[in-house]
Amino acid sequence: MSTPQTYTVTIHVRPLKSEDPPPRTYTITVPSDRYILQHAESQGLELPFSCRNGACTTCAVRILSGHVYQPEAMGLSPALQAQGYALLCVSYARSDLEVETQDEDEVYELQFGRYFGKGRVQLGLPLDED
Ligand code: FES
Repeated sequence: MSTPQTYTVTIHVRPLKSEDPPPRTYTITVPSDRYILQHAESQGLELPFSCRNGACTTCAVRILSGHVYQPEAMGLSPALQAQGYALLCVSYARSDLEVETQDEDEVYELQFGRYFGKGRVQLGLPLDED
């Protein structure tokens, strides 16, 4: 049995609430056949998560450099994936990586804000005012 490739993954954790700890950076070595979140936790890191199956975006990161493979990232549109966002709970490293944690509300806004934000959904509804 061959040994999986390993990659160096640097994770910048942004504080999201006033009670969160200050910004911190972790660097770990992750085998290419392990989910990054799962492996980081096995190394004692505390990272944001909720569903653990690629649906909720709590574990979303922006990729600053490198590549991931995330075929199960259902919670992230292909457009956002192409813009460099990833879900660590279902991401495999495919190179050395540097990533930054994201606010899940910001990611939601990026995905859906242009459809549901600022009342623009009214464009699809009949309005009586006219
Ligand atoms: S923890 Fe929900 S998408 Fe990763």
